[in-house]
Amino acid sequence: MRRLLGVVALAALLSPCLGCPAPCSCSTKKNGRLLAECAYRDLRDVPRGLSPNVTILTLSANRLGRLGRSSLAEAPELQSLWLGYNHISAAEPGTFAHLLQLKNLDLSHNRLADFPWQDLRGLGALQILKLSNNRLSSVPRGALAGLRELRSLWLNDNQLATLARGTFEALPALAQLQLFRNPFNCSCKLFWLKEWALGSPDVLSGAGSTLCAAPARLRGRAVTEVPGALCVAPTAQLTYLSGPAEAGRGGGQGPTLSLHCSAAGSPPPEIRWRVRTAAAARAGERRFAAFPNGTMAVAGFGKEDEGTYTCLAVNEVGTREASVEVALAGSRGPAEELPRDDPQPGGNQHCAAGERPDASGAGEKLVIVYHVPGEARSGAGAPGLRLGVLPLALGRLLLW
Ligand SMILES: *[C@@H]1O[C@H](CO)[C@@H](O)[C@H](O)[C@H]1NC(C)=O
Ligand SMILES: *[C@@H]1O[C@H](CO)[C@@H](O)[C@H](O)[C@H]1NC(C)=O
Ligand SMILES: *[C@@H]1O[C@H](CO)[C@@H](O)[C@H](O)[C@H]1NC(C)=O
Repeated sequence: MRRLLGVVALAALLSPCLGCPAPCSCSTKKNGRLLAECAYRDLRDVPRGLSPNVTILTLSANRLGRLGRSSLAEAPELQSLWLGYNHISAAEPGTFAHLLQLKNLDLSHNRLADFPWQDLRGLGALQILKLSNNRLSSVPRGALAGLRELRSLWLNDNQLATLARGTFEALPALAQLQLFRNPFNCSCKLFWLKEWALGSPDVLSGAGSTLCAAPARLRGRAVTEVPGALCVAPTAQLTYLSGPAEAGRGGGQGPTLSLHCSAAGSPPPEIRWRVRTAAAARAGERRFAAFPNGTMAVAGFGKEDEGTYTCLAVNEVGTREASVEVALAGSRGPAEELPRDDPQPGGNQHCAAGERPDASGAGEKLVIVYHVPGEARSGAGAPGLRLGVLPLALGRLLLW
């Protein structure tokens, strides 16, 4: 005990000259942590001469304007860094990256239009992050991933119009999120936030005052009260239109495979195709015709057109896919037919919408996506995935 007191006394004695910048006052707390108190000092820069052992640094209410990569280099042991109420307009990437012990970071009430988000990657101990009352207009996708200790995140009073789906996923400790007073655009792109908030009760503080600024008809409405009917995730159903018989009329060079994707949702989904066949790998989109009405055709269907055909229905709310494996008769297992020529009623309306004369050119709304067989891709429809587990599992279609 005496020994411990001695050490504390020595530290207190040494701190003014050893590692305490002139404008600050330093003290050792009971738990042995070293505090450097530099708030309300009219400082324009982070003072030099900090002890490498400082764990708490208060620099609130100064006139700091810009943080450079080396601003905090002297204090790698920081656990708490208070920088609120300054004039900070920029923080260079790397400013915080080396603060591996950091638990609390307060940058609220500054002028940040951007933040070095990549610095957060190594800050696995971070518990409190306050970026409120700044000028942030975006949070990059995945910026917060890996902050497994993060409890409190303040992003209120910024310029955020939207947030990427999944921004607050993989934050198992998150207990308080503040987003109010941002000019949110409550298009369906942001609809996930409502679902997330409902699924994480009490995390979004001031949910009732987290309001939409756009579109006009939702202005002033809480983001958690956007009517669900406006934003409906897509459904997709695959049917085939022409089999061997109809195809024979074609050009005498083999049958035409004609698949139709019926999609529904709000806003009406865009239809894309993903084709995994040897022909797609070789010839790319030249091999296929995709029409704005959701139909796609492969003329002169041959052995190397065998493979997986996937239709993806995509809107701002989500993506749904339906796949079918197509094989020539005799080359694979027995036939189990697809639903034939019977697009579902709901889907029809949206297919019809897609048929409207379109100034931007027919087919332009369709994107054909090819994936070389064997290329790994996450999600349903990956090579080797059994049809039975696809969302809308369909049988095997045999031609000829
Ligand atoms: C920092 O702490 C270490 C170990 O606790 C100690 O040996 C060292 O003297 C301290 N340095 C300063 C500048 O206080
Ligand atoms: C809101 O988002 C939608 C969809 O992303 C976009 O079309 C629209 O222009 C945005 N509105 C405003 C006011 O930014
Ligand atoms: C879609 O358009 C193509 C080309 O115009 C046509 O061949 C096909 O039958 C149409 N599909 C449906 C379901 O109407």
